[in-house]
Amino acid sequence: MEPYSMKNPFPATVRAVRHITKPGSAKETVHVDFSLEGSGLEYTTGDALGVLPRNDEQLVDALIGALGLQAEETVSLSDGSQTSLREALIGVYDITALKKGALAKWNAVAQSGKLTSLLEDKEALKEYCYGRDWLDVASDPETTAHFASATDFVAILPKLTPRLYSIASSPDAVPGQVSLCVGAVRYESLGRPRKGVCSTFLADRIKPGDKVRVFVHSNKNFRLPEDGATPIIMVGPGTGIAPFRAFWQQRIADHATGPMWLFFGNPYKATDGCYEDELEPLIANGVLKYSVAWSRDQAHKIYVQHLMDAAGAEIWQWLEKGAAVYMCGDANRMAKDVEQTLLVIIAREGRMDEQQAADYLAAMKAQKRYQKDVY
Ligand SMILES: Cc1cc2nc3c(=O)[nH]c(=O)nc-3n(C[C@H](O)[C@H](O)[C@H](O)COP(=O)(O)OP(=O)(O)OC[C@H]3O[C@@H](n4cnc5c(N)ncnc54)[C@H](O)[C@@H]3O)c2cc1C
Ligand SMILES: NC(=O)c1ccc[n+]([C@@H]2O[C@H](COP(=O)([O-])OP(=O)(O)OC[C@H]3O[C@@H](n4cnc5c(N)ncnc54)[C@H](OP(=O)(O)O)[C@@H]3O)[C@@H](O)[C@H]2O)c1
Repeated sequence: MEPYSMKNPFPATVRAVRHITKPGSAKETVHVDFSLEGSGLEYTTGDALGVLPRNDEQLVDALIGALGLQAEETVSLSDGSQTSLREALIGVYDITALKKGALAKWNAVAQSGKLTSLLEDKEALKEYCYGRDWLDVASDPETTAHFASATDFVAILPKLTPRLYSIASSPDAVPGQVSLCVGAVRYESLGRPRKGVCSTFLADRIKPGDKVRVFVHSNKNFRLPEDGATPIIMVGPGTGIAPFRAFWQQRIADHATGPMWLFFGNPYKATDGCYEDELEPLIANGVLKYSVAWSRDQAHKIYVQHLMDAAGAEIWQWLEKGAAVYMCGDANRMAKDVEQTLLVIIAREGRMDEQQAADYLAAMKAQKRYQKDVY
């Protein structure tokens, strides 16, 4: 039998799905456990899982209605198989992200003056696409299109793409299982609530016993030190905590002796703790040092890098003892700010100038003692 992969995903059974942040949290976060039993799939701590989502049925029904098509009309897929329009829009095609190529194909049918101008103006098109989906395009009389058949419509759509999630479990701690820690993406645009396709598929639409198509995505650049005695510093605000749950599980399974230090951050202590029940005994036993930044519990923001800066002397001692530093989470802002803080700590505590500090961090990177998993 062909091994399971991105091209041939494994239908993993959902074992459990639960919210880990509390109701009212601004960072709705869910934990999902899948069974990998019978798949032959193996993963290493630090890897990611690819998930093939299914679109929101309500959005699909609204889109079919706006297009004036029939949900049960048969469509032919590119692999030669046939299914209903509704099933194709739920499971096969991307109906949310708007891209230039698909809009141009749509406009070949729509013949919209508005879209024709937008397609000639890169910046205006980018602005138009942000926060819009195909339902918006189909519902606007200036841009709507009348397709002769459901097959003609799906022919313009790109395929639904898998999303990656850092694996939040260790294969040695929970053999045959894989866990994820997922932040639900929700926002409002043009007066309509919007849902991130995969994160809300996992948060809202799966239940134990369901099958979800998954594959393992190896991440060789995010690995625990080979020597279990090496201290590790883990910086993972928000869903950035995900691979670090795998790290602490792995270190415990390995009976590793190296100290661990976790920097976590989220808005409010009252609603936004993650895996605190699992962390408490590790903290109490002195296995793991925990520094948490509740960003909105006071008038001014407190972020992980502020705690790192305040603990700079101790971080420097850990670095000089050979500690490896790991960072996971938001790439756009957090990762840059945390890296800058690390450089400041190295320069200040190691009495170095800017260039020497940059060289020190570059050397850590070359020794695989500084690794990032940011998205
Ligand atoms: C290696 C890797 C590891 C990852 N690990 C994790 C993890 O452990 N946990 C986790 O939760 N995520 C993780 N992610 C992110 C994850 O892959 C998805 O990108 C995320 O869940 C969003 O996917 P979605 O399908 O829900 O949203 P999509 O349907 O893809 O929607 C997201 C898009 O919505 C749009 N959007 C978002 N907000 C707004 C707004 N306010 N206004 C207008 N448009 C907006 C943006 O275009 C954005 O790109 C990881 C990503 C990578 C690459
Ligand atoms: N592209 C972006 O601008 C952007 C922004 C946020 C999240 N995201 C993405 O949204 C998804 C979910 O995010 P998440 O749930 O993991 O949480 P998150 O939005 O990263 O938030 C987690 C914690 O980090 C804080 N934070 C905000 N800016 C920070 C910074 N510059 N440095 C350090 N900490 C900072 C947040 O504080 P406050 O919220 O109180 O400021 C919060 O307490 C991820 O995929 C992430 O990449 C993208």
